Amino acid sequence: MTSTKLTRRSLLATGTALAATAGLPRFAIGQGKKVKIGLMLPYSGTFAQLGENITFAVDLVLDEQGRKLGGREVEIVRLDDESNPAKGTENANRLVNRDEVDVLIGTVHSGVQMNIIQVVRDAGTLLIIPNAGNNAATRELCAPNIFRTSFTNWQPAYGMGKALATKGVKRAAFVTWDYAAGNEAAEGFSQAIREGGGQVVQVLKLPFPETNFQPLLAQIPGLNVEAVGSFFAGGGAVQFVKEYAAAGLKARVPLCGSGFLTEGTLGGQGAAADGIQTALHYGDGLNTPKDNAFREAFKKKANRDADVYAVQGYDAAQLLAAGMTAVKGDVGAKKEMIAAMAKATINSPRGSFTLSPSHNPVQDMYLREVKGGLNQVIGVAAKALADPGTGCKMG
Ligand code: PHB
Repeated sequence: MTSTKLTRRSLLATGTALAATAGLPRFAIGQGKKVKIGLMLPYSGTFAQLGENITFAVDLVLDEQGRKLGGREVEIVRLDDESNPAKGTENANRLVNRDEVDVLIGTVHSGVQMNIIQVVRDAGTLLIIPNAGNNAATRELCAPNIFRTSFTNWQPAYGMGKALATKGVKRAAFVTWDYAAGNEAAEGFSQAIREGGGQVVQVLKLPFPETNFQPLLAQIPGLNVEAVGSFFAGGGAVQFVKEYAAAGLKARVPLCGSGFLTEGTLGGQGAAADGIQTALHYGDGLNTPKDNAFREAFKKKANRDADVYAVQGYDAAQLLAAGMTAVKGDVGAKKEMIAAMAKATINSPRGSFTLSPSHNPVQDMYLREVKGGLNQVIGVAAKALADPGTGCKMG
C-alpha cells in the first residue's frame, strides 16, 4: 500500500492548482495560512549582537506593515546558527526541509552562508541574505531565488582601498580573520590599491574567531607601510582596535578597513577608535528623514542604537514585503515574486538602492571617520558601487 504524505507545502500547492483551475486568484485558498519566515542568525558568539539587530529590524518592518505581508499573517521561526559553518547544512535543512519555511532570512557569517546556499539551491526556497558578504552568493553561485540586502565582501574593502589610493597611499598591509569574509575583503582592498599604482605588501591572518592578535601586531612596524587595512567585526573588532592602540601603533600607522571594524562597536572601543577611517554603505550623520525615522523607531524597539546590521535586516524585510505585496501574499507565485523583488527600489535608511542583475545592492560606499563616538560620514569613497558579479548566470 502506498501512503501519500501530505505536507504543508503539498497542501498549499494543491490549493494553488485548484484555485487556478477555478479561475480564482491563486492565493484564495492559501491566504488564511500564515507565511512562515525562518530567521537563521547568530544569537550567540562574537556575532550575537549582529544577529539580534537584524532580528529587531525585521520585527520593526512587521510592525510598520500591520504584522502582515501581502495581506498574510506572519509566523517567525528562529534558529541560532552560532556562526558555526560545521552546523550550517544541518541548521539550514532544519528550517527548509523540516519546518518548511516559505522564506529564509539568513545569515551573518560567510562560511555558514555557503552551506545555506547549497540547501536553498537544491530546495528552491527563497533566500534573503541580511549580512554575509561571501562574493560567491551573488557571483558564481547566484540563483533566481537568492537575494542579498547587504554587500559583497569586496564592496566596502574596495571602497576603503580606493579612498587610500586617491590619497596617494602606495604601500599598505591588511589584517584579518582567515575565512571567506576576510580573504575577500583583502582582495577588494588590494585591487583598489593596485589600481592606484600601489601594493599590499602583506596580508596578516589568524583563524576565525580567535583574538590572539599580538603576534600579528608585532610584525607591523617592520613592514614599512603607510596604512593598515582590516576586516574584523563584532566582539573581535572591539578587541582588535583596542590592542592596536595599546601596542602604540595607532600614531605610527593609520588603521582603516571595511566599516564593520567600528560598526556597533564604538561603545566597547572608546578612545582607541577615535580618528579611524572606514568605508561602508551606512554611517552616522546622514540626517535624512528616512534614516532619522528609522533610528528613532529602532531605538524604541531595541533599546540601543541602530547600525548597519539593523539597516540590512530592515531592508531584507522591506524587500520581502515588496515581493509579497506584488503577489498579494501568494508565495507560491514564486516567479512573479522574484521578478518584483529583482526590480524593487528599496527605500533604505542608507539611501535608496536597487539590485544588480546578480541580486546584490548597487550602493554608495561612504567614507566615515570616528569622531565623538560616532562613525561620521565625511564623504563618498565609491559612488553607486556594484559588485562585478563575475560568473553569475541566472539559470
Ligand atoms: C561575513 O562573514 O561575511 C561577515 C561577518 C560580519 C560582518 C561582515 C561580514 O560584519
